[in-house]
Amino acid sequence: MVNNKVALITGASRGIGRGIALQLADMRYTIIINYNNDRASAEQVLKTVLGKKGNGICFNADISKNENIEKMFKFISQEYGRLDVLINNAGYAPIIETEKIDEKSWDHILSINLKSAFFCSNHAMFIMKKAGQGKIINIGSQAGITGGFHSAAHYAIAKGGINTLTKRLAMEGAPYNILVNCVSPGIIETDGVNAYPEEVVKDLVGKIPIGRIGTVSDVANVVSFLLTEKSNYLTGINIPVNGGIYMN
Ligand SMILES: NC(=O)c1ccc[n+]([C@@H]2O[C@H](COP(=O)([O-])OP(=O)(O)OC[C@H]3O[C@@H](n4cnc5c(N)ncnc54)[C@H](OP(=O)(O)O)[C@@H]3O)[C@@H](O)[C@H]2O)c1
Repeated sequence: MVNNKVALITGASRGIGRGIALQLADMRYTIIINYNNDRASAEQVLKTVLGKKGNGICFNADISKNENIEKMFKFISQEYGRLDVLINNAGYAPIIETEKIDEKSWDHILSINLKSAFFCSNHAMFIMKKAGQGKIINIGSQAGITGGFHSAAHYAIAKGGINTLTKRLAMEGAPYNILVNCVSPGIIETDGVNAYPEEVVKDLVGKIPIGRIGTVSDVANVVSFLLTEKSNYLTGINIPVNGGIYMN
């Protein structure tokens, strides 16, 4: 068993997951950098983590499939014997009209954005309950609170489920000193958002009272706070990180 705390971040090869990984390296976590396709980027994240004198490993798993989640947690148990933090971050937000969503797309989007978080949390809770401590942070979305503007309906619905998952796990985890919270980004500068059509981005920025798109650090800062002892009386909450867009 390793001495320092172990954190699993799903989808940590890019974007918000990467930003969280770099801050957790500063906090001296051993980090499992989960990724799906982008091995080179995941390895770059690990390199940066190691450069900060952090510790970690890249773990390839398409977490939309339970068999891969099972393999990942088997590895964590065997290799580290502990899991202190789970960040359910991996996600994908397509832009597609509601009428064009078919069953295949529904299953795919719900699997990546919601099912994966439920089953990763189930495995994590099993380890954390035995340890009598742990923290789970779910990365939700503004779309899960409002129903969304441009993102797809099934994505927004999945993120709404993330809010409910957070509350349910918080209730079940509390007696075991497992704290579960959600951080819901608004519009954050990442590959996903950079792929949006220019007019969509312009429209979104126009809706943000602070007047700018958020950075990955804006989100990672809040996640880092939730991992400090200063947040130890918070559980089952959803923190929007969105430049005030929720006021609209
Ligand atoms: N950016 C925003 O404005 C925004 C707003 C609201 C909510 N969010 C949420 O924040 C989270 C991170 O978003 P992001 O913008 O940082 O995304 P991103 O830049 O597109 O990166 C997505 C990450 O998730 C991983 N991933 C995707 N599908 C996966 C799968 N099936 N199994 C394992 N990993 C998978 C990707 O791995 P590969 O690189 O290997 O493909 C990548 O590391 C998501 O939950 C998203 O819904 C983002």
